[in-house]
Amino acid sequence: MNLEQAKAEIKQLRELLNKYNHEYHVLDQPSVPDYEYDKKMRELIDLEEAFPELITPDSPTQRVGGEPIDAFEKVQHTVPMLSLGNAFSEQDLRDFDRRVREGLKEDVTYVCELKIDGLAVSLTYEDGRFVQGATRGDGNIGEDITVNLRTIRSIPLQIKQQEAMEVRGEAYMPQKSFLALNAAKEENGEEPFANPRNAAAGSLRQLDPKIAAKRNLDIFLYGVGQWEAGTLASHSERLQHLKELGFKTNPEWRKCQTIEEVIDFVNQWVEKRPELSYEIDGIVIKVDRIDQQEKLGFTAKSPRWAIAYKFPAEEAVTKLFDIELSVGRTGVVTPTALLEPVKVAGTTVQRASLHNEDLIREKDIRIGDTVVIKKAGDIIPEVVRVMEDQRTGEEEEFHMPTECPACGSGLVRLEEEVALRCINPNCPAQLKEGLIHFVSRNAMNIDGLGEKVIEQLFRENLVHHISDIYKLDREELLQLERMGEKSVDNLLKAIDVSKGNSLERLLFGLGIRYVGAKAARTLAQEFETIDRLREADLQRLTAVNEIGEKMADSVVRYFAKPQVNELIDELKALGLNTEYTGIRKSDQKEDSIFAGKTIVLTGKMELFTRQEAKEKIETLGGKVTGSVSAKTDLLIAGADAGSKYDKAKELDVEIWDEQQLKTALDE
Ligand code: IVH
Repeated sequence: MNLEQAKAEIKQLRELLNKYNHEYHVLDQPSVPDYEYDKKMRELIDLEEAFPELITPDSPTQRVGGEPIDAFEKVQHTVPMLSLGNAFSEQDLRDFDRRVREGLKEDVTYVCELKIDGLAVSLTYEDGRFVQGATRGDGNIGEDITVNLRTIRSIPLQIKQQEAMEVRGEAYMPQKSFLALNAAKEENGEEPFANPRNAAAGSLRQLDPKIAAKRNLDIFLYGVGQWEAGTLASHSERLQHLKELGFKTNPEWRKCQTIEEVIDFVNQWVEKRPELSYEIDGIVIKVDRIDQQEKLGFTAKSPRWAIAYKFPAEEAVTKLFDIELSVGRTGVVTPTALLEPVKVAGTTVQRASLHNEDLIREKDIRIGDTVVIKKAGDIIPEVVRVMEDQRTGEEEEFHMPTECPACGSGLVRLEEEVALRCINPNCPAQLKEGLIHFVSRNAMNIDGLGEKVIEQLFRENLVHHISDIYKLDREELLQLERMGEKSVDNLLKAIDVSKGNSLERLLFGLGIRYVGAKAARTLAQEFETIDRLREADLQRLTAVNEIGEKMADSVVRYFAKPQVNELIDELKALGLNTEYTGIRKSDQKEDSIFAGKTIVLTGKMELFTRQEAKEKIETLGGKVTGSVSAKTDLLIAGADAGSKYDKAKELDVEIWDEQQLKTALDE
């Protein structure tokens, strides 16, 4: 291929990949299965490797994050990025409405939007290309974080509009990514982020864009900055235009004619807020017409035509009566506050992680204190502060032990970690947590073997190591409390069934550091047998897409341990399958009837578990989502299907029963 041909080919591939990307990340409606996307991406990477002079920053290959940078450059905002005045009550909203109406002396329409709890960013496009992304900074001068923003897949790298345009919005971290990130941080003994907003901000302020690329950030665009050619007369039309240009806008906005309607919208979201998959901290109310916005103008700090209603952060006061220590699967010792039960944001809270000793010192938390608690980002209970005026003098300071509370061996603080760790590989607490993980749903998924039963078996000395699960004896089990013939037989059957699990479940269950469920699947698909995986060296592992150096290193170290190899040989001897039984990469059918389809599962399933059905559909190129919408292609309805079924009927979505799914999968 010559340069000209490569140029044309690259252009075409980029356009196609940009389209796929938009369908997947913005519209949530992919038209092709993931492997088709991967295939095209591979072609583009290969071509760009052959013709490196054709690589441009707006190529879809550049989303994974390029080289680290030394510092962020400063960016001057041509149109200042202002913040908004706040309203904390209905009265504040009515006062705002009165000021607006007095200022305009005519009727007004408002647009209400969700106030996304992330950080404000500005994106500049020139000749249809994303050229610069910046933080708000002090409103006039921000920082150039283009390299990091480019990794957010819902940000288009190209748009179909040649005139220069600066758009603004909120970058954020979805709740699921936040929880996963913090879980990983705690596992590694690192300090978790206090809330999704800090996590998003922390990720975008990394000098190494590869880190941001892994953080699963997202964005909603809600406004326009500098835009010479802009002619649209209202904010609502601008939102529509942004959407048409390929930007991700939040769908939950509404036009309101009166402040009562606005208040109604606010109250609805106070209720519905927990259903969202991202954090919001209020509602933003904007005057719709641009000429009216201009007439109202600005105060020194904020526009007169908009206001942010802030939801009250629900807090509660309770007593901290003890601090408990727990040893996790990887040996990290975590202190947890035991609280007198108290209701916050919808649920009863009795425990709150205190993370580590530094945090306890910082907040000066003592046993017996009266404390204020809240749910950080409305998810995780957190001790906000101590009510010092309630102290009686009886409170006790807390110190982390120097020995493991479970096995007594000395705790260590690894370099650059805030956490204390027990490094005894035979520590019973770690073994027990490891077993609980091994049998859990995303791992070996052994029915009837939950946390309680593992604890019981562990206490009774029937299991210590993973292999012991497969050596359980019926007679011994029958001796245990609350274990009748039927439950013992069911348990043994479930254990037996689990022996046939595909490799990825075993891999995830083994608890190799940094190997989550998704990575386990990638490894299983790639290596197909545990023997091939345990022979792989660093180079072979890092050659696998999605396997980074840290993970590869951890896998190599893991399989270098003699006791690990003994365990695997023992599991094989006990009859466990150690091969991948899913659809092999090479066998994936492009013409599968599920390819590119968006599918929803509902009702009680009998022939499969939900997870199984989901995995099968996904390996065949389908996408499984949680709710029925116009984008849904197919609903699989098990027994007693409820509202999703009704919705699918209403939208004329194709509906199958479980048997039809089974037949299709068997084919
Ligand atoms: S409009 C001049 N709309 O809230 C108006 N802001 O203090 C600029 N935010 O800095 C903001 N969601 O970071 C607007 N739908 C939304 C928003 C939103 C979140 C943030 C933004 C801004 C702060 C307001």
